[in-house]
Amino acid sequence: MRENQQEDFPGADRHSDADNSAPHSPFNVAENTNLPSDGNGAPQLTRRSFLMWVGSSGAATALPAAAASAFAAPMAASAPVTMDPGLVNVRLTVNDVVRDAQVDVRTSLLDYLRENLQLTGTKKGCDHGQCGACTVHVNGRRVNSCLSFVAMHDGDTVTTIEGLGTPDRMHPMQAAFVAHDGLQCGYCTAGQIMSATALLKEPCGRSDADIKEAMSGNICRCGAYSNIVAAIRQVRDAT
Ligand code: FES
Ligand code: FES
Repeated sequence: MRENQQEDFPGADRHSDADNSAPHSPFNVAENTNLPSDGNGAPQLTRRSFLMWVGSSGAATALPAAAASAFAAPMAASAPVTMDPGLVNVRLTVNDVVRDAQVDVRTSLLDYLRENLQLTGTKKGCDHGQCGACTVHVNGRRVNSCLSFVAMHDGDTVTTIEGLGTPDRMHPMQAAFVAHDGLQCGYCTAGQIMSATALLKEPCGRSDADIKEAMSGNICRCGAYSNIVAAIRQVRDAT
């Protein structure tokens, strides 16, 4: 046993019922004659003696009303609040039609086109900007719509594969893909055609190698590359 162990226990067993009739403060020298001394006659407050005082005196429940309300205020302030869903108003011209919408700021352009406007010709492949299946035109330039938030395109003009042509009036690039059999399953085809038509306005050389380089962001799992290049070359040579 440590030499001062008895002093660490401020004599709880020596408290009389009379002593416990009212809360004692460990800071009240007159009331706490059982507190250990520091050697100079002054009472020595220890962590243990303080906790024993709190437990025995009911001090925690004897807080004045003002103090209790001071604790209650921050708790009321931390009550659950309704989160702002983060909606934003956008206006886009999609395939020559003005579209107004209120969308979550996290909505990609791809999801807006497919889920809000049901323009499902634009495909979601990787959703990570790696396959090109989601390619559309924004203000005439090709964009991976999966990598772009629709909130960034307020006021922009968007063209999807549905706006490029119709089965009865196909765009020359669509007709060339059909003529050269530039597709198999067709999942990548909308993105391929949107990239290919944008390429016509880009500073791209006329060789097949130039076309392949310019189309390298569009992946075809079916491997229809040679026919895709042939289709693009035909349209390029005609312009
Ligand atoms: Fe956008 Fe693949 S879905 S690049
Ligand atoms: Fe099937 Fe390109 S035609 S992925």
